[in-house]
Amino acid sequence: MRQLVLNSYWVKTQYSRPDAQTGVNVTTLYDEIGYPLTVQNVTTKPGLLSPIHNHGTWGVIFQIRGEERHTFWRRVNPAEKPLQIEPVGEHLLGPGEILSLHPDAIHQVETVGQKISLTFQFYGDTQPKSRFQFEPETQTARRF
Ligand SMILES: [Fe+2]
Repeated sequence: MRQLVLNSYWVKTQYSRPDAQTGVNVTTLYDEIGYPLTVQNVTTKPGLLSPIHNHGTWGVIFQIRGEERHTFWRRVNPAEKPLQIEPVGEHLLGPGEILSLHPDAIHQVETVGQKISLTFQFYGDTQPKSRFQFEPETQTARRF
């Protein structure tokens, strides 16, 4: 992935500025019917904080520009209380760095610093009804 992003002018230039209302913009780079991969460039404005969410599949994120703080969460008791989660750490992702997400990963992303964040994101096949946004205070979740 590092070689692809660093060597491809096209990948690095396929993006739009974050939307003024939502603070985010997603540019789809690959979309083939029946071949379930997500390949996209995402821009976010400084200060934007995502919901706590999972992706229901593996993912790889390459930080092209700007910085993001990823806070990771885990299920405390997956068998009996799958919506009870707790924070387990964070990672500051800077330009040129790659983050891999396991299918069980739960994270929250904050765009830090003064610059727009630009990331190249690659996800596998999201399993049906497996992607959620979590509310730890109430131990609830809804589709994301
Ligand atoms: Fe995410």
